[in-house]
Amino acid sequence: MMTNTPADASMRFLTGITTSGTPHLGNYVGSIRPSVAASLGHNAESFYFLADYHALIKCEDPARIQRSTLEIAASWLAAGLDPERVTFYRQSDIPEIPELTWLLTCVTAKGVLNRAHAYKASVDKNQAAGNDLDADINAGLFMYPVLMGADILMFKAHKVPVGRDQIQHIEMARDMAQRFNHLYGDHLVLPEALIEESVATLPGLDGRKMSKSYDNTIALFAPREQLKKLISGIVTDSRAPGEAKDTESSALFQIYQAFATQNETSTMRQAYADGIAWGDAKTKLFERIDQDIAPMRDKYQALMNAPEKIEAILQAGAEKARAKATPLMRELRHAVGLRKLAAPAPAAKKQKLGKTSLPSFKQYRETDGLFYFKLLNGAGKLLLQSHGFAAPKDAALAIAALLKRGPQALKEMSGKLLTIEGAHSDAIAAALQQLMDASD
Ligand code: TRP
Repeated sequence: MMTNTPADASMRFLTGITTSGTPHLGNYVGSIRPSVAASLGHNAESFYFLADYHALIKCEDPARIQRSTLEIAASWLAAGLDPERVTFYRQSDIPEIPELTWLLTCVTAKGVLNRAHAYKASVDKNQAAGNDLDADINAGLFMYPVLMGADILMFKAHKVPVGRDQIQHIEMARDMAQRFNHLYGDHLVLPEALIEESVATLPGLDGRKMSKSYDNTIALFAPREQLKKLISGIVTDSRAPGEAKDTESSALFQIYQAFATQNETSTMRQAYADGIAWGDAKTKLFERIDQDIAPMRDKYQALMNAPEKIEAILQAGAEKARAKATPLMRELRHAVGLRKLAAPAPAAKKQKLGKTSLPSFKQYRETDGLFYFKLLNGAGKLLLQSHGFAAPKDAALAIAALLKRGPQALKEMSGKLLTIEGAHSDAIAAALQQLMDASD
């Protein structure tokens, strides 16, 4: 079901879930299920984590953050995530992540963050309500994509399985990596979003994207009876039994499709065309979901009753994660110049030392028939210009003298040379010195 899933063992997958609510079917379909499948399917290296720093952006209830962290961890484990095979950790156990966030903050254009969907939606909402554009928006929301970039780049992930609404964030992370590498050398891997094709974004009870912020979710491990009740509340249109029904616009159908095989989906599509009653469609949906979820429910309950077990798993995961994060962070700190003062500064960029960047003399003839030369610095800026010489040989001799005796010859020849506005005599002397050094 996953697309572009490479069988390559060197491929790294990474995804996180924000710990601000109870995991719902949308989290399961969009994140938990594909990540577990990816971790079991091949030898790729996988990183899965609880994004609790992200949760602070929209949740100010400490008990809820803690509870949600436990629930999401238990959900992942109940769904079959094997912490031995993957790196499973809590974001806030990795202090290198906020540290990297700062380095990335400094290579991210503010204008790009202005355009991030989640932030922009809040601004637009304020505008529509006639409020101050910044009303009720914390800087965490604005910085959200950078923190997410740090999550991803810290572990050099190649593929990031996410819902479609997160594509923009992955693209931003990619841009941050590109910019960082351009400035400081090749340190970071450029990530790509991995979207499960068959699931656009799972709709919720009201047909909009299933999301805690819309309060339209179906809890992943709701008890059976409650699951049934919630499903019966999914919006439908008013078509009567026997009337053909539209699959495209049906949240019920979209959710069914996210759980069913292709054959089952075709059968359901036919049933829609044949005018299945909405009540019957809901029963079928409930049964199909429960078929997948029921076996995990008991595991989930057992895990929820043993939080100390989950804590131990997360601590072991953090240790594994930091074994990667700590050395990379050390490398990045050094790359940007946060270094021990006794450490030698590595040579400046090659370009600056290369042949092409040496100062140079240029000889030429003017329309007055005389021969001239000029001195340019490495960047091509004019430093010095000669008076006219009757013969090219005289110009060449003057250049040779300058190259041989440098600043001393410069003084002797001052009557033959024009100073150029803006070209300081120190700069001229330095350029000559550079040429003399280079010819040694
Ligand atoms: N922003 C993601 C969400 O709300 C959660 C998340 C945080 C994440 N960091 C991540 C997902 C890094 C993938 C990779 O769904």
